[in-house]
Amino acid sequence: VTSTATETKTSQPIGIFDSGVGGLTVVRAVAAMLPSENLVYLGDTARVPYGSKSADTVVRYSVLSTRFLLSHDVKMVLVACNTASAFAMTELRATLPVPVLGAIEPGAAAALAATKTGRIGVLGTLGTVRSEAYPKALRALAGRDVEVMAKACPLLVPLADEGWIDDPVAEAIARRYLTELHAEAPSLDVLLLGCTHYPLLSRMLGRVASQIWAHPVTLVDSAGAMAAAAKAELQRLHLMHESASGTLSTYVTDDARIDEVGSRFLGRPLGSVTRVDL
Ligand code: DGL
Repeated sequence: VTSTATETKTSQPIGIFDSGVGGLTVVRAVAAMLPSENLVYLGDTARVPYGSKSADTVVRYSVLSTRFLLSHDVKMVLVACNTASAFAMTELRATLPVPVLGAIEPGAAAALAATKTGRIGVLGTLGTVRSEAYPKALRALAGRDVEVMAKACPLLVPLADEGWIDDPVAEAIARRYLTELHAEAPSLDVLLLGCTHYPLLSRMLGRVASQIWAHPVTLVDSAGAMAAAAKAELQRLHLMHESASGTLSTYVTDDARIDEVGSRFLGRPLGSVTRVDL
């Protein structure tokens, strides 16, 4: 088989974008699961947060971010932001020339695999909850009756950014959100962490949840589910890169505090970061 100029090569990078640094939790999961892949990450740190913005704005910003990734010749795009996934997937799938994976469907599938009762709680940004993307995806994928209760937890994002992770203030805020959710959904058995930032808080959230519900509650995060979905899709398309150890190139639209905060989400030093304008 001769290779043509338009043929996708396995060595082409996977493009990953998020509203800011939170998507580095997805990079971390993808790098662990697909260590040979070259990754290009864009954090739209100049425009973060997306979670409190309107659908139109989030779609517009997502289009700009994916255009940047395409200019780096990516073979696949991962929308590592739950809010962008909630609002922009239809537009991105219809317009991008490469496969696009979002956070919602992988997260929903993982939550369905974990629930025994069919009662699922979803935590996310205001935008993600307002979009109803998770309840819709859960019902579409379930093929059975599921009860979904979503709760916006906007204060958890700045806590994770700040590194207040296993911290009494973070715990008090989580307790308030989860107590409110418990009142609506006393018998849920899965909490779906539908925001890039929440994996950092998962230990504390799990502890608080088990006190409030007083029965086992499984936490599922969309970052790990996205990495598994990306692997399955690359295998299906014969686009896995397997031979070498992968690289990570990181771009941001603003670089204030990026080393400190970025490394916290990536779980290791971030290395060099390039600031770009979209
Ligand atoms: N990345 C966003 C998400 O996963 C959280 C931060 C923001 O609001 O931009 O929904």
